Amino acid sequence: MALKFGIGSKKSVGIDIGSSSIKVIELSKSGHKYYIDVLDTIDLPSGAVGGGIVNDAASTASYLKNSLAKHGVSEKKVVIGIPCKHVIIKTIEMPKMKPSELESSIYYEAQRYITYDMNEVSLDYVVLGDSPSEPSNNAIMIIAGKKDIIENQSDFFHECGLNPYIIDVDCIALENMFNFNYPEEFDELISIVKIGASETNVHIIQKGTNLFRRDIPIGGINITEEIAKKFQINFNEAENIKTGNMGNRSEDFKSEFNIYLDMILTRVISEIHRTIDYFAANNDKQYPKKIYLTGGSALLGSILQEIESKINIPASNLNPFRNLLFKHESSDAIHNFFGVAVGLALRGAE
Ligand SMILES: Nc1ncnc2c1ncn2[C@@H]1O[C@H](COP(=O)(O)OP(=O)(O)OP(=O)(O)O)[C@@H](O)[C@H]1O
Ligand SMILES: [Mg+2]
Repeated sequence: MALKFGIGSKKSVGIDIGSSSIKVIELSKSGHKYYIDVLDTIDLPSGAVGGGIVNDAASTASYLKNSLAKHGVSEKKVVIGIPCKHVIIKTIEMPKMKPSELESSIYYEAQRYITYDMNEVSLDYVVLGDSPSEPSNNAIMIIAGKKDIIENQSDFFHECGLNPYIIDVDCIALENMFNFNYPEEFDELISIVKIGASETNVHIIQKGTNLFRRDIPIGGINITEEIAKKFQINFNEAENIKTGNMGNRSEDFKSEFNIYLDMILTRVISEIHRTIDYFAANNDKQYPKKIYLTGGSALLGSILQEIESKINIPASNLNPFRNLLFKHESSDAIHNFFGVAVGLALRGAE
């Protein structure tokens, strides 16, 4: 049920297209407060979306349109995200200059850093402020997204009758969501680990800036596929077992499954561990003070406790609603799914 707020409130709709589900959130900003009007998770048939890119536009559009109608979302302007792996993000330095001069020279400067064909990319940039090493320079984040991916994604939303007026990048949205919700961590070295359906992303951030990101090709979908193969069951059965619905399976099956799950967890955690070690080895042996876990697959078994004990860094589940006012009954389990969507909606509510 959509809650309506009075005149003066600004609405923003964020839509995150995931490989296993779409997340929709509508926020209202009133004064300095953000309210959640609408929250929905739309499960998708397998293969409809792959790696955040829509493959089956017709069925995905009908699911999305039904959800928006059901929740009374009438705002057509929406904020969407492009998967980070189709985007090059770099922080460069340029001498301080007027915005108009920067506008005309950034393209030529950016060419030196972008490995894609410049005719095939859309370029955007954000002036971050003084360069830490040379105060007469500005640090500038350049963001180059592949045009075909951006067009594919925005065509999909136009087909749904929506106007994707802001196109963000999912990893940037996730970090913005974190900075908004955990301002007390601003000065600390923090790792956000998102374990989704298609992959795992390890971010290391400090002072609102990304210092490092690595994508690990392990996600919930391939974990379910491995379980299905190992126990000779179909994908849906394997998904049920993985998410804790054992049905009337025998004790022998359960213990064999738990051993197998431990093996999977060990592999995921050792990849995350290696990534953090790699960052530390290249950054004066600095380790993150804390790991924040998000993404649906971060609900797998006892992954949080295992990360804490094996990597030896305090870990907790990230709450993307921490500084939002929640009008709905909510269970902690949905926290894991909304990190990117909240970041997108916040962009539109700024
Ligand atoms: N209780 C649970 N235990 C383990 N895994 C779970 C649980 N609930 C959901 N998952 C897994 O979480 C994954 C979905 O997570 P999430 O919604 O973050 O991914 P997505 O946004 O759809 O995909 P993408 O990786 O493209 O962002 C699925 O693979 C699902 O199997
Ligand atoms: Mg996702």
